[in-house]
Amino acid sequence: MKTAFFYFRMTEQLSREQLLQLANEFGTPLYIYNADKIEIQYNRLTSAFKNNKTRFFYACKALTNINILKFVKSIGCSVDCSSINEVKLALFAGFEPSNVLYTSNGIGFEEIEEAQSLGVIINIDSLSNLKKFGEKYGSSYPVGVRLRPNIMAGGNLKIATGHDKSKFGIPVEQLEELLQIITHYQINITNLHMHTGSDIKDADVFLRGIEVLFDIVPHFPNLTSIDLGGGFKVAYKEGDSAIDIDNLAARVMAAFDNNEHTKNLEIWFEPGKFLVSECGYFITKVNVIKETAAATFAGVNSGFNHLIRPMFYDAYHRIENLSNPDGEIKEFSITGYICETDTFAWQRPMNEVREGDLLVFYNAGAYGYEMSSNYNSRYKPAEVLVRNGKPKLIRKRDNFEDLLSGQIID
Ligand code: LLP
Repeated sequence: MKTAFFYFRMTEQLSREQLLQLANEFGTPLYIYNADKIEIQYNRLTSAFKNNKTRFFYACKALTNINILKFVKSIGCSVDCSSINEVKLALFAGFEPSNVLYTSNGIGFEEIEEAQSLGVIINIDSLSNLKKFGEKYGSSYPVGVRLRPNIMAGGNLKIATGHDKSKFGIPVEQLEELLQIITHYQINITNLHMHTGSDIKDADVFLRGIEVLFDIVPHFPNLTSIDLGGGFKVAYKEGDSAIDIDNLAARVMAAFDNNEHTKNLEIWFEPGKFLVSECGYFITKVNVIKETAAATFAGVNSGFNHLIRPMFYDAYHRIENLSNPDGEIKEFSITGYICETDTFAWQRPMNEVREGDLLVFYNAGAYGYEMSSNYNSRYKPAEVLVRNGKPKLIRKRDNFEDLLSGQIID
């Protein structure tokens, strides 16, 4: 009997036709995610870090839909959570507690107690909570500490977390106090963590962080891993380049291998954007064209209630007119329907935009739906996941009942 081989070629990008078809089928505004792309990105990481001691924890704050979590689990990736509810979502999605990392910040100790009772891996980011942890658990539960390496990195100040004015982590200059607490309570520190920011293009940032951590590693004899956080930059703009993962991998692995204290440690990362930014497309419909002396506005059926990155971080998202690909190139300012200034793009050249046209925003997977709201009592969009070429609705569009849900109505 002959063996049949099936070769599936994974799709890097959904086509214009597919996006139009999905928008027609599910309506707009609509978030669409391409599962293949998540897997491609994950494979890029695992093939760059060709060793058996690097672990990737998907920073699920980027996109927590349960179907995405289940998919991420199915490809063998672990998960990083930033709240106890994310931890519970990850467990609900089927992750083993040993594959769930909880990197907390600014939280009350009761969340740490809850995470401990759920059996997940914990990183603590304040001396105060570490002390409480020591008092309650002593050496009985291994734990990690998040350090602040005092490195300025990241695409902009709002997403820079490792610098010397940042609230995140225990400042490295407080090492002595940290060690006193650890010794006093005999805390079993198995992981050192840092995360310096998001949109990091330069591998040097990670190497600088490694230097800071390696300097103090000898003080932590029970370490089994070093967690370098996330922040890998992906390309948002035409001509933009992403972080060079192969270069990063080679340099990080060499650094670990060349140090007698770290050569046997696991290397952990927590990528969010790298895994899910490019898999996502946000489709909107043009409600109104308004000609003014300053600009031609194309007002879409969305706003910062659905995609806040351009307004909050001045983030650039590539936008294309799906409905008029051969239209003359003209400048349009893309704005929303929120009763505030919600400019997605100012004077952006694109194929002529007409009322009723469908516009796609690229790189919408990470921190898109996840940061959406019901501001102006607008509905949140639907979400669709495309897997093996088949679309599946993974979140229905809000309806009027959703707006009232939770409210007490006499
Ligand atoms: N690990 C920790 C501890 C983090 O705080 C973050 C992101 C990550 C990992 C993942 O970073 P990524 O690989 O996604 O860059 N909403 C902003 C990004 C905020 C990132 C917050 N922390 C944006 O849309 O640009």
